[in-house]
Amino acid sequence: MAKYYTEPSRTFTEYLLIPNLSTKDCTPDNVSLKTPLVKFKRGENPELSLNIPFASAVMQAVSDHHMAVALARSGGISFIFGSQPIKEEAEMVRKVKAYKAGFVISRSNLTPEHTLKDVLELKEKTGHSTLAVTGDGTAKGKLLGIVKGSDYRISRDALDKPISQFMTPFASLIYGKQGITLSEANDLIWEHKINCLPIVDEEQNLEYLVFRKDYEAHKEYPNELLDANKSYIVGAGINTKDYKERVPALVDAGVDVLVIDSSDGYSEWQRETIQYVKANFNVKIGAGNVVDREGFLYLVESGADFVKIGIGGGSICITREQKGIGRGQASSLIEVTEARDEYYEQTGIYVPICSDGGIVHDYHITLALAMGADFVMMGRYFARFDESPTRKLKVNNNFVKEFWGEGSNRARNWERYDSGGKSGLLFEEGVDSYVPYAGSLRENMEKTTSKIKSTMCNCGSKTIPQLQREARITIVSATSLVEGGAHDVILKESGLSGE
Ligand code: IMP
Repeated sequence: MAKYYTEPSRTFTEYLLIPNLSTKDCTPDNVSLKTPLVKFKRGENPELSLNIPFASAVMQAVSDHHMAVALARSGGISFIFGSQPIKEEAEMVRKVKAYKAGFVISRSNLTPEHTLKDVLELKEKTGHSTLAVTGDGTAKGKLLGIVKGSDYRISRDALDKPISQFMTPFASLIYGKQGITLSEANDLIWEHKINCLPIVDEEQNLEYLVFRKDYEAHKEYPNELLDANKSYIVGAGINTKDYKERVPALVDAGVDVLVIDSSDGYSEWQRETIQYVKANFNVKIGAGNVVDREGFLYLVESGADFVKIGIGGGSICITREQKGIGRGQASSLIEVTEARDEYYEQTGIYVPICSDGGIVHDYHITLALAMGADFVMMGRYFARFDESPTRKLKVNNNFVKEFWGEGSNRARNWERYDSGGKSGLLFEEGVDSYVPYAGSLRENMEKTTSKIKSTMCNCGSKTIPQLQREARITIVSATSLVEGGAHDVILKESGLSGE
């Protein structure tokens, strides 16, 4: 006979937090959202942590290199989508790693033999008004000069004029030497009233450009998630099919952490993939998705550095309708957290949990953390921002952004849903949709994190581990759910006729 669970499976909206005593020092400024990303031993620090507990979903419509830079700047991590050719995914990772906070690898480069026409064309293509002139026209070639808008006059100069005749030559350039710090570079920028400072090595080869505006931006992001080389930390999705080719390419591109992206992670394929990665590379790897203690322990014992929880709760997900599998996100988290804590008790190894999918309101994030998640992964949330890779459109007079599931015909990510047998997507597990456009990632995340911090203060918690230990959580009845929103009043924006 099948096993029956006596409790129904529940989701976030069915729970609320009950305030604990807030001590006077428990103010939002004193709250830290730092959280482990990968497993660690008791008494040690994790090798990778996040400054805010947010990860962007492994999805075509969410996590490309632009999203990864924007999110790492704010302290979280993106997992670049794996449903693309290996070379392209690796290239996105490479772009993120090349984007050092404040130090930029020059992306618009020409040789002195190129002409003004080439300058104008490149400027049009990249939008960059400062171009590096190198011996071989590459980003790392010998720096011979810089071209900026004030070096030429389109109305006077002939289009075939060679760059060598109008660039600012190296001998007249202010430049920084390899190893210079960002603040030293900034001092030079101010001292000499320039907008861009090239950094060169001992052989005069170009290393980076430092822009005045980037330094200003850098100062505004105190939570930036950086590696030891001051590059942004980035993750990438892999599958259990082509990992022997994909993982080496991603590692070569400098990826910090991998995640196996699958709708059902409780499988021998995941174990094989984790073991292959562990045996051949020194890179962290998360696995999932699972929804119960058995699945969690299986992946942990296979070597996973973190485990992703959630089946069927994603906003674009129709897995439950199509296949009848899944579990309410709160119930999954509660059970897995219990298993994780027991495992920690027994072995002294703490394995972070990522709650993936189904975050609708900001407070769901706080609930997920209180229920034991160390960080959350979100698709819909990030898809709404300027930084997501999809088109912004106007539909019925409202701005929206496109958002489609990895299991939709549009993404055709059959590797994520494959359960052996014939390859290909025989039926959809996700939809193609729009989400309301919400503006910039930064502004939205500031609002969300300040809500989380405020709730944590209500719960008397200054850190996520404290919240996980001390939170008090209650189930809400269907009747008290009604009480949770505005009720028994006439809302002004309801557009009553005559108003
Ligand atoms: P959201 O934050 O509720 O939008 O959920 C995002 C999560 O949904 C992702 O991180 C995936 O785990 C999951 N997901 C992505 N695409 C699909 C799909 O097509 N079907 C089912 N689940 C999906």
